[in-house]
Amino acid sequence: MSLITRPDTEVDNFHGIITVSPQMRSLFRIMERVAKSDATVLVRGETGTGKELVAGALHRLSDRHDQAFHAVNCATLSSELLASELFGHVRGAFTGAVRDRKGLFASADGGTVFLDEIAELPFDIQARLLRVLQEKAFTPLGTTDTVSVDVRIISATNKALRRLVAQKKFREDLMYRIRVVPLFLPRLAEREGDIEVLLWHFIDEFNRKGLRNIETVSSATMDAMLEYRWPGNVRELRNVVEHAFAVGEGPTLGLDDLTPELRGEPPPRDGVPDDPRAAERARILEALRQTGGKKGQAATLLGMSRSTLWRKLREYRIA
Ligand SMILES: Nc1ncnc2c1ncn2[C@@H]1O[C@H](COP(=O)(O)OP(=O)(O)O)[C@@H](O)[C@H]1O
Ligand SMILES: [Mg+2]
Repeated sequence: MSLITRPDTEVDNFHGIITVSPQMRSLFRIMERVAKSDATVLVRGETGTGKELVAGALHRLSDRHDQAFHAVNCATLSSELLASELFGHVRGAFTGAVRDRKGLFASADGGTVFLDEIAELPFDIQARLLRVLQEKAFTPLGTTDTVSVDVRIISATNKALRRLVAQKKFREDLMYRIRVVPLFLPRLAEREGDIEVLLWHFIDEFNRKGLRNIETVSSATMDAMLEYRWPGNVRELRNVVEHAFAVGEGPTLGLDDLTPELRGEPPPRDGVPDDPRAAERARILEALRQTGGKKGQAATLLGMSRSTLWRKLREYRIA
């Protein structure tokens, strides 16, 4: 069995984005220029490609870097909660609004707001966001006041907004407003040299935790990694390394440490799902069954916040 050790390549760490690929390096040059303007940026790329890291880097490179950076996931909350999160509300604005709340836009005044999964932004909130972009103003829920703000907006999506516009799910005027500068993040598998570099990067991260010390990678394992499509991109690669540290032992990362997908095996078909997502979905369904469908109680049972459960219900399409 031939073993691969860490190459001593010159690696870029651009505000936490690790890479050796020329495509990424030219993206950084564009980011440095774009960051200085207040233009809205739409970061496009598959899940796990580092869209949130890019948004954070743009903020840090901008003149707003010593002001607030607030991120919100548009797929997480119900429409009403999301509106209140973004624009704030006064007491009594809706059932459950027991006290005034300052919204994210108000508290990010002078800074940057990152809207993740912008394609999921409910239609009725889209007009309010458009107003923030056009007039730099909004109205908190339950009031008629106009609040002025100066925020830079960065959004991210893994969907084609144009298609959603055609389906009348996304406002065309908003689409143009949020993507004055579109930035595209390539898939992990398209970034020359990055699978290997990021593999070692994450091995280092987990080695530091002391569970196991990996020093070499078997060449068959490296081949499997290089051939794999990586639908979950960098996030998935990190998860695969974490999996290897959890299940395996010894100084060599071998094929046995890998998940079935990477070994090119079909997922197990028996009752116990091995896929962490399927397992999580099953746990959520079980918690809902135990609590008679009460989401608050189910969230407590699962040890997650209500908003996380909300997001997961949508993600796993649990009605
Ligand atoms: N190039 C990279 N270098 C190091 N870590 C990365 C890189 N790209 C993504 N990550 C990590 O992978 C995970 C997913 O990144 P994230 O920005 O949330 O992706 P996305 O928003 O596109 O789904 C995070 O833990 C992030 O820190
Ligand atoms: Mg993300």
